[in-house]
Amino acid sequence: MKQISINTTISVLSKDELSQEEVSLMDQAVEARAKAYAPYSKFTVGAALLLDNGVVIQGSNQENAAYPSGLCAERVAIYYAGATFPDAKIVKMFITASPQDRELDEPIPPCGSCRQAIAEYEFKQDLDIAIFFMGAKGNIYKSDSLKNILPLVFDKNHL
Ligand code: THU
Repeated sequence: MKQISINTTISVLSKDELSQEEVSLMDQAVEARAKAYAPYSKFTVGAALLLDNGVVIQGSNQENAAYPSGLCAERVAIYYAGATFPDAKIVKMFITASPQDRELDEPIPPCGSCRQAIAEYEFKQDLDIAIFFMGAKGNIYKSDSLKNILPLVFDKNHL
């Protein structure tokens, strides 16, 4: 039997190691998380996207009494960006997530559906998206591309 090993690289950063632009994106993600509508899970997520036209888009999770009708913060932000600035490229994305009543200090990765949605835009724009994610405090994980956190990605080339 032949096996394939998949290696991936994630950088672990403290806030001090972020550039000024990244700290400001982190602040926008924190601001977005404060606007989450999460009355059911009480788990709040904020995302901020930096576009190549300089615009920053915020998104937060939006829940619904019919649970599956809600949407994650990352996809709220990404679809808004795609719908509002269809020709802009997403350069960086910052995500922060934590339960409402406590401050997680471990990085929370985007869910599988959000990774697939991010993949679509990375392929569409033909430019890697740097993805930063954290809890509410503590270290930040950085992936230089979606492909690092979704190896064996399904994309339009398979159709
Ligand atoms: N959530 C996100 O916003 N992003 C993720 O990547 C994972 C989960 C939201 C969905 C739901 O409102 C809550 O977190 C609990 O799953």
